[in-house]
Amino acid sequence: MSEPLAVKVAAAVPSGATAVGEFAFSDRLTKVPGVKKAAAERAGFSGAVGTVLALPDGEGTRVLIGLGRSKEVDDDAVSRATAAFVRSAAKHRRAALTLPEVDLDEGHVLCLVAEAAILANYAFTDYKTAADAGPRLTSLTIATDGDLRAARAMVHGAAAVADAVCFARDLVNVPGGELTPPRFALLAAERAEAAGLEVEVMDEKAIAALKLGGLLAVNKGSVHPPRLVKLTYTPGPAAADPAAAETPALETVALVGKGITFDSGGLSIKPADGMMGMKMDMGGAAAVIAAMCALPAVGAPVRVVAFTPMTDNMTGGDAQRPGDVYTARNGTTVEVLNTDAEGRLILGDALALASEEEPAAIVDLATLTGACMVALGERIAGLMANDDDFRDRVAAAAATAGERVWPLPLPADYRKQIESDVADLKNIGTRYGGSLTAGLFLEDFVADGVPWAHLDIAGPAMGSEVDGVNPKGGTGFGVRTLVQLLRDWGAQDAPDEAAGGPGDAAD
Ligand code: BES
Ligand code: MN
Ligand code: ZN
Repeated sequence: MSEPLAVKVAAAVPSGATAVGEFAFSDRLTKVPGVKKAAAERAGFSGAVGTVLALPDGEGTRVLIGLGRSKEVDDDAVSRATAAFVRSAAKHRRAALTLPEVDLDEGHVLCLVAEAAILANYAFTDYKTAADAGPRLTSLTIATDGDLRAARAMVHGAAAVADAVCFARDLVNVPGGELTPPRFALLAAERAEAAGLEVEVMDEKAIAALKLGGLLAVNKGSVHPPRLVKLTYTPGPAAADPAAAETPALETVALVGKGITFDSGGLSIKPADGMMGMKMDMGGAAAVIAAMCALPAVGAPVRVVAFTPMTDNMTGGDAQRPGDVYTARNGTTVEVLNTDAEGRLILGDALALASEEEPAAIVDLATLTGACMVALGERIAGLMANDDDFRDRVAAAAATAGERVWPLPLPADYRKQIESDVADLKNIGTRYGGSLTAGLFLEDFVADGVPWAHLDIAGPAMGSEVDGVNPKGGTGFGVRTLVQLLRDWGAQDAPDEAAGGPGDAAD
């Protein structure tokens, strides 16, 4: 898997840097020393976000980084501008930049730049045979005149989140034939253990003992056994003192992620075009696992338990047949009329398990429906919830994290679409509103009274082109939203008790 970019902070730009970035505003180009506005514009540099201009400067290269109009700079502009710099400076290997002077908190800008640099420098090269599969930065130094100790702590937190996003991208990009459920579980367990999480990997026997009927049903067509990975994060003081973990004050949040390592559709097989990207069908599980791994570094103040069911959806001789009925973890019987609506089967079991933890809330992430892409396109996730306040909290966390989500309803009167003639539920509705009937199906497995939010990330889990900090391929979508939601847990009810720890200035 790819080497992450080393981001350092220093009081000044080091002499070894061969590309030195300097932010410039489109409405202040005449004020940039040594630059003629007309000449810059002739060279294609307007100062708009995404444009850069390389100017030879002694041994190295001075790079102007467009940041748009000086009064309109927001988080997205800082991220996109940094991404453009990193891509343009990649061939110089060692880069440095000075932070822009903008109407945003300086620590916050530092975190945005560090995070964007790591995210934009990402490349998945595991299967490229050339020794040098395209240029990439090896180090970036950010010059700041602020307190260096505080800056280093903030960059440490930002880098932990960005590295987690890159881990999720790697997992999504590994081919489906390689990332079998046992291998996926192993990679998750290794990383989670290194991060200091409690790890439990359930194999096919344990899964049968837990009566995860949906996971077993989907797995019937596969030669690879299923896995269920359970990760637990306990915040610092409580982790050190097991008694504190028992105190009722420490809430638990549960996460669930869809881990279909390849979705052929099963016997309701997908056409060739529709099957092509289906190694990404574990993007929800990847995001959940990666976010868990970042929680210790950002000092999240809440206990978090994650369940990620893993199997591929194949067509083997004993694959589930349309019309088959299984019994889910919570006792619900489900008639499977379309084996390609498999995500909801494994998520139903995981949501039932998550509910058994009596959590304060549950969030699930899943590449669940093509219908969500029809509705919102490739870059925006659908957000559904059984609780308006909790939905708003998840939406706010996503907005702060710079990930795009949009609310969709869970209309109670549509639920009759998933009532079966022979069992409690069937796994498909009508042709219309497919994301909503999928969401309604999931809602049935969440215990009454538990706030729950569902993110359908079928679109944004994978990018078809470079977009800001996102590469083509796996994006790691959802990691930053989850980390943002959890690092601030409780801050809404008790602002004074907001989380401490590195990276907090990012808010
Ligand atoms: N994994 C797919 C959803 C998907 C489609 C994700 C395209 C990303 C891109 C899911 O398992 C699926 O096949 N859903 C079906 C549901 C239908 C059979 C009710 C779909 O969306 O067509
Ligand atoms: Mn499917
Ligand atoms: Zn799927």
